[in-house]
Amino acid sequence: MKKLNVALVGLGFGGAFAGIYKEHPDVGELTLFDTSKEVLKKTADFIGGARLAESFDEILADPSIDAVHLVTPIPLHADQTVEVLEAGKHCACTVPMATSLKDIRRIVSAKRRSGKNYMMMETTLYTYQYFYAKAMKERGEFGKIQFMRGSHYQDMAGWPDYWMGLPPFWYGTHAIAPMIGMSGSRISRVNCFGSGTMAEWMVQRYGNPFPVETAIFEFENGLKGEATRSLFETARVYQEGMHIFGSDKSFEWGFADGDDPIITTAGESNGRDRIMVSEVTPMPNYYADLPEELWHFTIGDNYDPLNPQDSLRMGAGAGHHGSHAHLVHEFVRSCIEERRPWIDEHFGGNITAAGICAHESALRNGEPVIVPKF
Ligand SMILES: NC(=O)c1ccc[n+]([C@@H]2O[C@H](COP(=O)([O-])OP(=O)(O)OC[C@H]3O[C@@H](n4cnc5c(N)ncnc54)[C@H](O)[C@@H]3O)[C@@H](O)[C@H]2O)c1
Repeated sequence: MKKLNVALVGLGFGGAFAGIYKEHPDVGELTLFDTSKEVLKKTADFIGGARLAESFDEILADPSIDAVHLVTPIPLHADQTVEVLEAGKHCACTVPMATSLKDIRRIVSAKRRSGKNYMMMETTLYTYQYFYAKAMKERGEFGKIQFMRGSHYQDMAGWPDYWMGLPPFWYGTHAIAPMIGMSGSRISRVNCFGSGTMAEWMVQRYGNPFPVETAIFEFENGLKGEATRSLFETARVYQEGMHIFGSDKSFEWGFADGDDPIITTAGESNGRDRIMVSEVTPMPNYYADLPEELWHFTIGDNYDPLNPQDSLRMGAGAGHHGSHAHLVHEFVRSCIEERRPWIDEHFGGNITAAGICAHESALRNGEPVIVPKF
């Protein structure tokens, strides 16, 4: 069976994926590229060598490369994704898919014209916690899902320049995606408020006055979910949380990102209230569907010692709770099997557009904004 030749572009956060591609049994040649020669060399050395590209254009022009995974700065995602698809290659891109509805449409159209795969590499949808909640849903343990909540608290004051002043919900995908996944529906409408104030120099860059945004999303199937994203000047320990409230059981993320979740089970009534039993529940590792070569990437501490980012260290599971190996496997297998990946342009488009529309609503002081369908 043919192996997939993959190029990984952008090796900051992207560095954590290099070893996974290198060890994936269905990947042939791995090519790495970063505009920083130092980062490129260090990453290649860390994984024991890979082919190095001199430029992004070299990757686009190389017919031997089948697929490109972009982990570059946010403002580059849309243009680079369109270029990869137009070069006739499959494209995976880290979050967010884009920062405007127009750019999401460009990607959807480039994907359709190319006939290649697009996947948005949303980490929260492959965490131990998401797998666990999904299994609870499949077993009917929630009863009726009544309400959902998502959170992403991360004070990103020291991140690269393009982050400074970023509208919180332009990077709200980690708070939004698990709610859409668990709803089995799509977000169709949002009301959002911005809150707080931040330094004027941060306001200037994107014309965004808010360090925190909080939104109520409406799903096509009638469910509602609330999500909050804090990005600057807000003291809160890091957490990318998912909270699912059912009629029989509820799942709530631990206080800090690495804490075990709390599962509440509703019992008989004591005459007035139903008796609720809450248990802190350690998560199992859902590694068995992965090739054995990748199992070790779902446990342990840190597969990218070059990156100081917290989420690559906190909790067990190689950063982001074991998700990286699952993301790579789904992208690679979907290309080989010539099928859509789970987080395709429609799902990724809804996750990203819901955040873009939430920020639009916040700028209009909470007016409802319809989320277009992609
Ligand atoms: N959980 C997640 O899904 C998650 C976590 C962190 C970051 N991210 C996303 O990953 C992306 C990168 O984040 P980061 O923290 O590494 O950012 P960063 O800005 O620190 O690093 C980006 C890397 O890309 C390189 N680069 C810049 N321009 C390039 C170009 N034109 N071609 C190739 N390489 C280029 C830089 O030299 C740097 O090494 C962002 O888009 C961010 O949204 C996602």
